[in-house]
Amino acid sequence: MEITNSYETVIVRTDILILGGGMAACGAAFEAAHWAKKHNKSVTVVDKAAMDRSGAVAMGLSAINQYVGLKDGDNTLSEYVQYVKNDLMGIARDDLVANIARHVDSSVHLFEKWGLPIWKDENGKYVHEGRWQIMINGESYKTIVAEAAKKALAELGDDGQYFERIFITQPLMKDGRCIGATGFSIREKKFYVFLANSVITALGGAVHVFKPKSVGEGLGRSWYPPFNSGASTYFTLKAGAEMTCQEIRFVPVRFKDAYGPVGAWFLLFKSKATNALGEDYMETRKDELQKWLPYGAAKPTPANLRNHLMMLEVNEGKGPIYMRTDEAIQKIVDESEDPKTAKRTLKKLEAEAWEDFLDMTVSQALLWASTNVKPEETPSEISACEPYFIGSHSGGNGAWVSGPEDLSPEGYHWGYPNMTTVKGLFAAGDASGASSHKFSSGSFTEGRIAAKGAVSFAVDTNEKPDIDEAVIQQLKEDTFRPLELYNEHKDYANDPNINPNFIKPQMFMFRLQKIMDEYAGGASQAFKTSKPMLERGMHFLDFMKEDSSKLAAEDTHELMRCWENIHRMWQAESHIRTILFREETRWPGYYFRTDFPEMKEEWKVFANCKWNPEDEEWEMIKREVIDLA
Ligand code: ADX
Repeated sequence: MEITNSYETVIVRTDILILGGGMAACGAAFEAAHWAKKHNKSVTVVDKAAMDRSGAVAMGLSAINQYVGLKDGDNTLSEYVQYVKNDLMGIARDDLVANIARHVDSSVHLFEKWGLPIWKDENGKYVHEGRWQIMINGESYKTIVAEAAKKALAELGDDGQYFERIFITQPLMKDGRCIGATGFSIREKKFYVFLANSVITALGGAVHVFKPKSVGEGLGRSWYPPFNSGASTYFTLKAGAEMTCQEIRFVPVRFKDAYGPVGAWFLLFKSKATNALGEDYMETRKDELQKWLPYGAAKPTPANLRNHLMMLEVNEGKGPIYMRTDEAIQKIVDESEDPKTAKRTLKKLEAEAWEDFLDMTVSQALLWASTNVKPEETPSEISACEPYFIGSHSGGNGAWVSGPEDLSPEGYHWGYPNMTTVKGLFAAGDASGASSHKFSSGSFTEGRIAAKGAVSFAVDTNEKPDIDEAVIQQLKEDTFRPLELYNEHKDYANDPNINPNFIKPQMFMFRLQKIMDEYAGGASQAFKTSKPMLERGMHFLDFMKEDSSKLAAEDTHELMRCWENIHRMWQAESHIRTILFREETRWPGYYFRTDFPEMKEEWKVFANCKWNPEDEEWEMIKREVIDLA
């Protein structure tokens, strides 16, 4: 234990512990600070990276995708709920979606107050990208929001702290209640034990569970941030919380290879996507939508069904698929009222097209530049990405959380808003499930909701939990085992990456990705899977679980990689188990069960799962979908 003991153990006590540093965590910090001040409580935020640039919004965004416009009378709550429910093929918690939607506009107004430039028209109204989406100059979106969160914490004085560059490994549990978390610094030789009255997990979703399409010099490039590696799912599962929608993966369609956003093209520029022959597959294949009613008839067509129609083209060899940027721009120019201003309109559109990428996916602008793409002249290739796990956008997985008292029907409400089924543990953003389409603004808002609940919990329970020295020592040894293992066996072989006594995290990740890709319906299998395939995948996953105790790390950075992959492995297992459980195909375009190729009314239910910390057994649970809208 020489290496383990060389790490100092630091114990931090706080009332409300916020794990993560993304939009949801910033929302949680902002709101928690407000209520904590009133109740004399302390708040601590712990981030794996640096709050200014962490989480899914790290690189910036070109639009805020959830703005309901309630006060302006533009839309109603129930219209938003219906939109989300349709997009997820009927599987969403109306109470959670409505709770976020009724508060989200106020968060957007705060962002604007803090300095985020939101596009305005000549009447001073927000410029909409689509019905629910507004345009921003958002390169610094995350920095602006993080600054506000830090400022709110600073107002608490010594009672408001944030720690950066600390990787959270495990939940701390006592008598079935979550009382904190452990982690380690990736910059200093420190092991952290955070003890808290209530804990909010906002540790993001998961990428690189499936093999990415990007290889070679682009290896690891993905749509979702590569540093989000399943920590939320692991944390809540390991705490014994019930999870929901673990079978839903999000497969976005993006500009090919650099993963640039398509929303502005489809919604703002009203562009069409076509096959190589120039055929608009949303038109030519619209009959296919009849097979997926009532959702196939919904407007807009659900994201997975849009994917599905595109994939049918690709399967028939009618690719590449193109976004007809040139035609869209030309159409807007042609329709501009005054021919004299046509040139100016063209320049403006060109600038907007490039800024869309420069705000949020800089490498797509680089790829366009390096492959001589001029969007006003050349169409651009789009394709489906590999699958990701998120509780936001058009995904849905995460913890099963309590809804608000005034909106939730029986069974959806068991206490504090956004508390998981584990006492004292709350979830928000990509960590909470069945409340899709919260995006950046909704995740921030959900963080606020969870924080208010977590402060109430801390006020009501008002305990200062403690934990045995021996438990801390055991957790510390478990955390640093990969370092010890490497040190013990490193001299056996002359290549640090190949050694029969251990496995390095990158190799481990490649194995996991191969299993998931080939057996659980990854991109190379055109997202198809079946019971025998999933069972075979589970068989191999069992070996991975065994081998995970042999993960080895050369340094603290690699130690983080080891733990990231343990987190991913749990995300993978809950995914395979839940796809197996749901005996139908509900989201064609995200995945296809070849043995159950149709959607079934009897499966209009939530497929939940739970890992029991006592007997280490998994339980699969069906929960009713209750329509409130
Ligand atoms: S982003 O996160 O990268 O900005 P994306 O480009 O997918 O997202 O889309 C932005 C928004 O537009 C999302 O709300 C998405 O659901 C919506 N959207 C994208 N394409 C379409 C489409 N063809 N029809 C309807 N809505 C769409």
